[in-house]
Amino acid sequence: MEKELVVVIDFGGQYNQLIARRVRECNVYCEIYSYKTDLAKIKAMNPKGIILTGGPSSCYEEGAATCSSELFEMGIPVLGLCYGAQLMAFVLGGKVERAAVREYGKTEVAVDTSSALFADVTPNTICWMSHFDYIAEMAPGFRAVASTANCPVAAAECKERNLYSIQFHPEVLHTTEGSKMLYNFVRTICGCCGDWRMDSFVEENVKAIKEKVGNGKVLCALSGGVDSSVAAVLLSKAIGSQLTCVFVDHGLLRKNEGDEVEAVFGPGGNYDLNFIRVNAQGRFYDKLQGVEEPEAKRKIIGEEFIRVFEEEAKKIGAVDFLVQGTIYPDVVESGLGGESAVIKSHHNVGGLPACVDFKEIIEPLRSLFKDEVRKVGLELGIPEHLVFRQPFPGPGLGIRIIGEVTAEKVKIVQDADAIYREEIANAGLDGSINQYFAALTNMRSVGVMGDERTYDYAIALRAVNTVDFMTAESAQIPWEVLQKVTSRIINEVSHVNRVLYDVTSKPPGTIEFE
Ligand code: XMP
Repeated sequence: MEKELVVVIDFGGQYNQLIARRVRECNVYCEIYSYKTDLAKIKAMNPKGIILTGGPSSCYEEGAATCSSELFEMGIPVLGLCYGAQLMAFVLGGKVERAAVREYGKTEVAVDTSSALFADVTPNTICWMSHFDYIAEMAPGFRAVASTANCPVAAAECKERNLYSIQFHPEVLHTTEGSKMLYNFVRTICGCCGDWRMDSFVEENVKAIKEKVGNGKVLCALSGGVDSSVAAVLLSKAIGSQLTCVFVDHGLLRKNEGDEVEAVFGPGGNYDLNFIRVNAQGRFYDKLQGVEEPEAKRKIIGEEFIRVFEEEAKKIGAVDFLVQGTIYPDVVESGLGGESAVIKSHHNVGGLPACVDFKEIIEPLRSLFKDEVRKVGLELGIPEHLVFRQPFPGPGLGIRIIGEVTAEKVKIVQDADAIYREEIANAGLDGSINQYFAALTNMRSVGVMGDERTYDYAIALRAVNTVDFMTAESAQIPWEVLQKVTSRIINEVSHVNRVLYDVTSKPPGTIEFE
């Protein structure tokens, strides 16, 4: 049976991935494509519905991102959002103009609940508006089904042709009943029954991997992070010991992390696979000796990782497949789907495939968002502490020690970080802060302890709340918790005499210190 699909056509809006995630929350599978994608290609995918995103342009300007009127004549339901709403009106013969004032922020909107789009929505509800242009005149055949004080056409429909448009952003949480509106579109108007479920994802993928791999050998670089762990367990479930996982301990992991990964995936653990742990701490510390510049450290760690992995791969010999934990945002952000510019290439471990003798890459999580990867992890029975792990950078503590990395400094930051994480958990805050860690500032200062002068390091504590890690706010940790962490770090970790809390948001700061 063919799977249901909704296509999101991206006009360069900032919320493209969010729209796709919200659709998937309605149990409908959905993919993002650039507005430049050939219409015949989209039609061939046989989507049940199409959503047009917002975008930065004005649709009446020369060279603006646009679409052909054929898009609206394929008999497929279309929902235009923000710029997409204006474009639909413009292309079909309405008028879009610049408004006298920009409408921005939470706004009260009156919706016509007789429209299928607003079924079960409160007649006066709150929406998130962000636009300069507005629909001054609707295209022929459309009627307005929502309005605000400043925007006469906050939503419009042409029911006969299954065309709908919304000027505001139902995908952002500030639009109180936005999820319901998107649900109404994909489930009622497009008629999707909701066949995108993580239990069936596991079942179908295990079957597909079995068929693809046959008797072949598969190699996986396991970091202990969420993505590579879920990919490895999915593979293990499909092909068992035909899978070999190589875990490189580069000596820049958090306290006891190497042993924890080994306990889950190693010989005494829960899964049927071959596990190889490479203890390469010394090699990494040697290479990092005397290196202070952050990008140089990243490069050394990345390159050394490849070298270690390559040596292990040589011992194993030729394999048929190499597993990568690529997820959907990586695909979109590397410019392969949608309209986004390349934002995070430095965050990916580059160059791995080139060092391994293999025939094909398997990316079992390529279509999933992070929250879906976590759901798959739970389906597979992976321990919760691994599934809900906070993000940890590839170069690890190497970029949480400012300046030169030494074994001694690694130990200091590991111990301080372990105390910090323990106390955050004790205070019940671990589920509500998106990322938090200790860093070693490399600054030494004068202190006094037991009547003696000290000259020791300062530890910086960082904790941020963020949705997408592109922007972040410093978390407001209760003073008592910070005091407890501080006193424990000073008492329990040698060579630390000062603890600082970083209140910088991103921007202007970044989340990591380097
Ligand atoms: P920044 O510091 O750029 O961090 O605000 C944003 C997110 O990315 C993580 N990060 C990295 N991850 N390699 C990685 O794999 C890196 O070099 C790297 N630098 C930052 C960071 O932990 C945060 O989640």
